[in-house]
Amino acid sequence: MESPLKVLVIGSGGREHALLKACLESSLVEKVWAAPGNGGMAGEAECRPLDVEDPEACVALAKDLEANLVIVGPEVPLALGVADDLRETGIAAYGPGKDGAILESSKAACKAFFKKYDIPTADWDTFTEVAPAIEYLGKCSLPVVVKASGLAAGKGVLICESKESAEEAVKGMLQGGSFGASGEEIVIEEFLTGQEASIMVMVSGDKYVCLSPSQDHKRVGEGDTGLNTGGMGAYAPAAVVDDAIMEVVHRDIIGPTLEGFEAEGIDFRGTLFVGLMINDAGEAKVLEYNVRFGDPECQVLLPLCETDPVQLMWDCANGTLEPAEVKFKKQAAMIVVLAADGYPGSYSKGDPIQLPETLPEGVSIVHAGTKLDDNGTLLSSGGRVLGVVSLGDTLEDASAKAYEVCDAVGWDNKFYRRDIGHRQLKSES
Ligand code: AMP
Ligand code: GLY
Repeated sequence: MESPLKVLVIGSGGREHALLKACLESSLVEKVWAAPGNGGMAGEAECRPLDVEDPEACVALAKDLEANLVIVGPEVPLALGVADDLRETGIAAYGPGKDGAILESSKAACKAFFKKYDIPTADWDTFTEVAPAIEYLGKCSLPVVVKASGLAAGKGVLICESKESAEEAVKGMLQGGSFGASGEEIVIEEFLTGQEASIMVMVSGDKYVCLSPSQDHKRVGEGDTGLNTGGMGAYAPAAVVDDAIMEVVHRDIIGPTLEGFEAEGIDFRGTLFVGLMINDAGEAKVLEYNVRFGDPECQVLLPLCETDPVQLMWDCANGTLEPAEVKFKKQAAMIVVLAADGYPGSYSKGDPIQLPETLPEGVSIVHAGTKLDDNGTLLSSGGRVLGVVSLGDTLEDASAKAYEVCDAVGWDNKFYRRDIGHRQLKSES
């Protein structure tokens, strides 16, 4: 390894703050920058302005900083080929190239990949024209899921309870431009029931390591009610993914996927995020693939790695991963997201935030939508604003410590779900 490493973290959310913290804690890292970063990241490392959707600017910054590892947090730069461009200039990048990123940037391409490599998923078909899509809807049972194929920041999935609302969704996407170019092709899919879980697979060509299974909480309200959000909290390990399910994930999902990568000539070097739906009979199907760490899952998974996660990313970026050597802590981790009142609808920005001066052992705060004003005051600047991350010997311990800190954050417009981890906590009590 070209130790010590100079690392550039691209992105500005809670996930990227967790990646930055991992770099700051790593003995392999001599220097780390974030671009563009946020209010919390700016307090811990040098942040550089960057348009993450401009691949040339990303490469130019990495070159300028003489970074020898670039960790690409979000999906959009990956879909634009930033990792390819970095590798072409001789800079190691953690994140797949455009050919791997298509699994997230085109749900239609991802579904075709599932079919070709026999990966279990919901029944579906893809359409670019309204008439055949509506004919297909006639054969579907309700509810039915209508998805914009392209990137839509997690908002392009509509679960339709009636034939009329499904037709409206189809027309909205294909004729009305409701998701712009991302909705010019759609996927209509069978509705799956069960519990969702996320498996982050760190892939290095034909080798991989799975981080602990985790569970996000996408709905805004307690008891998993209300609108979908970017994620209101997560925990790991998620016991719903038991050993039997994990065996199926290795055998029927990851194995065929890596064979598919080889057959398609895709040299994937980054995170493959397997979004699972597990039904009551314990059968798992893939809801989606993403090609980057989940947010907020990343914030609980990196602290659970006993092996330095920067080592893992470096090895994946260079194709030198040795899975047998990877170790995880035997603890539980939880993140509770503090959001601005009103999110995911409209909410205020620019509210001052007072963080607690001390934190219990094992607790840290990651920033997402924050910024520092000219006087260094911390202000809210987004919908999901902070995450309280807590490690404990049990999930109950982690939860108690996390909520103690959530209550102590001084910010008038904060709200958070009080039931993160409720399924597992209920089954453990
Ligand atoms: P996706 O971006 O495809 O993962 O969809 C976002 C969210 O929509 C998922 O995390 C699920 O909560 C929900 N969803 C997507 N597809 C389905 C499906 N086929 N059945 C039930 N829920 C789904
Ligand atoms: N936590 C879900 C995602 O990152 O897409």
